[in-house]
Amino acid sequence: MKDKNGFKRHKDRGSKVKLIQISAMFPFRLPLLAALLGVVLSQYDYGYDYNPAEVRAPTPRCSDECECPSNFPTAMYCDHRDLKAVPFVPTGIKYVYLQNNHITEIKSGVFDNVTDLRWLILDNNNLTNGKIEKGTIDKLTKLEKLHINFNMLSEAVVPKSSAMEEIKMIGNKITKFPAGLLSGMDNLTAVHLLKNQLTSDGLSGAFKGLKSLMLLDVSENKLKKLPAGMPSSLMMLYADHNDIESISAGYLQKLPTLQYLRISHNKLQDSGVPAGVFNVSSLVELDLSYNKLTSIPEIGENLEHLYLQVNDISKFDVSSFCKVVSPVSYSKIRDLRLDGNNLTPQSLPLEASQCLPLATDLEI
Ligand SMILES: *[C@@H]1O[C@H](CO)[C@@H](O)[C@H](O)[C@H]1NC(C)=O
Ligand SMILES: *[C@@H]1O[C@H](CO)[C@@H](O)[C@H](O)[C@H]1NC(C)=O
Ligand SMILES: *[C@@H]1O[C@H](CO)[C@@H](O)[C@H](O)[C@H]1NC(C)=O
Ligand SMILES: *[C@@H]1O[C@H](CO)[C@@H](O)[C@H](O)[C@H]1NC(C)=O
Repeated sequence: MKDKNGFKRHKDRGSKVKLIQISAMFPFRLPLLAALLGVVLSQYDYGYDYNPAEVRAPTPRCSDECECPSNFPTAMYCDHRDLKAVPFVPTGIKYVYLQNNHITEIKSGVFDNVTDLRWLILDNNNLTNGKIEKGTIDKLTKLEKLHINFNMLSEAVVPKSSAMEEIKMIGNKITKFPAGLLSGMDNLTAVHLLKNQLTSDGLSGAFKGLKSLMLLDVSENKLKKLPAGMPSSLMMLYADHNDIESISAGYLQKLPTLQYLRISHNKLQDSGVPAGVFNVSSLVELDLSYNKLTSIPEIGENLEHLYLQVNDISKFDVSSFCKVVSPVSYSKIRDLRLDGNNLTPQSLPLEASQCLPLATDLEI
């Protein structure tokens, strides 16, 4: 059975769902269709539980290039479609997936109807800063998740959204993350900036004052030191594959909840590691592998995983792990990697097994 516009009408109980699907295919006809349905229903008894409120509720429309599934009508899927620009996002959409296209620009106005957008996913495109028009992304003041991984950004772009929870800009060419860009984002918990070209100066002040930041990944950048001014909420700091030569004394004392610290594949020498800098009780995992250390730094009492492989360590000093060695005073270390150094199993003093009784995974 077809009506005069050629839309199928169904008498079965599933008709409401089908009508919504049709409306997704012909997005801008929805008001007409709803009106039509109202007329039809007032004339005939279709025998299903008709709920006028449900039909008249403003169902989001969809861009022609994209798909808005009827079971998730606030999401707009525009991924893998060879798009060159971000399409206009219609009223009602809250989640936009634009990954895997060839998007080079964001023209003005595309987000004008969705200033309450929550997620914007733009991974694997070709966005550059110069072609993101002012007043586009900046408008998204309710955004919670922003993913612009694997694009060509040279500077971080983040709207002033106090609802922001997660930012991912992995694999761009970012050299600068302006100070204050994240200010007021009290719900921001994770920032992923892996594989960029950030220098310590380019990052300075970027994370100051954040209240909920738990994870920062700045691996594979050009940092010469760990980022300064990190908030005390931080639990995970990943800075592998940089050019870090030294750590400032007291750096970890300012991060009382930091549990996981990864600084592998850097340029740390003993002279850049002040005495006791890793001697903090919060640390559970410390990765210092692939550096230039010649001795084992002193570590905190709660450390369980210590990675020191591929350094120049030639001496195993029990006092790095245990101040006193006794049956009731021993290290909590479980994993200890020391392979790729100048040590042999014979380098281990006799007290080592008493000091490290839990180290079932000990590689020399
Ligand atoms: C955008 O918003 C305007 C003003 O509310 C409205 O008239 C228009 O239909 C909306 N367009 C789309 C495609 O959502
Ligand atoms: C981005 O642009 C470069 C050079 O213009 C091109 O080689 C590459 O395929 C583009 N990538 C995408 C995802 O469009
Ligand atoms: C921050 O998160 C809390 C808990 O999920 C939420 O209630 C609050 O509205 C969020 N703040 C903003 C500004 O969105
Ligand atoms: C390491 O930290 C513990 C606990 O704060 C402290 O008792 C100890 O003296 C420190 N070790 C050194 C050598 O500073």
